[in-house]
Amino acid sequence: MLRSVILAAARSKKMERVVGAAPVTRSLVKRFVAGETTAEAVAVARELASQGLLATFDYLGEDTTSPEQADATRDEYLRLLAALKAEGLSHMAEVSLKLSALGQMFDEESSYARAHEIATAAADAGTTVTADMEDHTTTDSTLGIVERIRRDFPEFGTVLQSYLRRTEDDSKALAYKDSRIRLCKGAYKEPETVAFQRKIDIDRSYVRCVNALMAGEGYPMLATHDPRLVEIGIDRARWYDREPQDFEFQMLYGIRPQEQLRLAGEGYRVRVYVPYGDQWYGYLMRRMAERPANMMFFARSLATK
Ligand code: FDA
Repeated sequence: MLRSVILAAARSKKMERVVGAAPVTRSLVKRFVAGETTAEAVAVARELASQGLLATFDYLGEDTTSPEQADATRDEYLRLLAALKAEGLSHMAEVSLKLSALGQMFDEESSYARAHEIATAAADAGTTVTADMEDHTTTDSTLGIVERIRRDFPEFGTVLQSYLRRTEDDSKALAYKDSRIRLCKGAYKEPETVAFQRKIDIDRSYVRCVNALMAGEGYPMLATHDPRLVEIGIDRARWYDREPQDFEFQMLYGIRPQEQLRLAGEGYRVRVYVPYGDQWYGYLMRRMAERPANMMFFARSLATK
């Protein structure tokens, strides 16, 4: 119930103004968002690399409604990739992008073209790109665009969400050589017709998808903070004879940082998903929805101000 309310608020411009104006919001944003500028993102990449952690950077922005906005988002990715290359960090850091931020909602073809330009710059820098997955109405479009880009850049990755009923089949279909698939549970409010609703069903689906990805020939990227699923990931990698460098764990910036270091210390590849930029509202609200304790912390802070 609380989750639905927060996810509805995540799409409300009015709530965005209220939350954005609250003085306590800043400290919460700081916990989950790396900063607003390219320089701040590069500094975080350097810090994570010094701890043996890989990174993927998400320049925050969704619901882009004009070509100018989409171009500006593309330009920031190009700037970041050039900066990572210049700083010698591109072997440790890649980028994640939302096709909606590149114009997918109003001109699918132009979002493909912008993503292709980013993929070209990433290849030039010696790194990779992963396309995030948004709500289920965009899944086919996103997989279609990713498939086209992969013809030129086979390492271009994407995300599958275990809450969607279709994802076990997608995992099997996409577990081919060189395919980079980030598996997460899913963060949007989806109808019962297309998505499992109970946590247990979403988790079971996650395990079935891990099996499919680990059994295949691609490169699985297990994006979860769930301790049980991390253990199952380790177990299945062993079962399918994968070395620690043949898959990776991914977690969000600011969530379970000690666990990120522990896994890296045990020799696993761990990548931290680092959002940055000033369009943090939708991202922050989805993190709140995942964990009511975060929301309570935020509400208490508001009440004591
Ligand atoms: P779950 O939510 O069950 O949490 C398990 C445990 O992790 C909790 O008990 C708690 O200890 C900790 N935890 C989880 N969330 C927390 C939080 N917000 N604050 C503090 N602790 C928390 N989704 C999507 O729809 N499309 C996408 O493209 C992506 N991309 C993506 C990339 C990466 C690298 C990650 C890690 C996640 C995503 N997601 C995503 C988000 C994902 O779908 C999911 O909503 C979150 O990862 C939370 O699910 P968990 O698997 O962590 O399990």
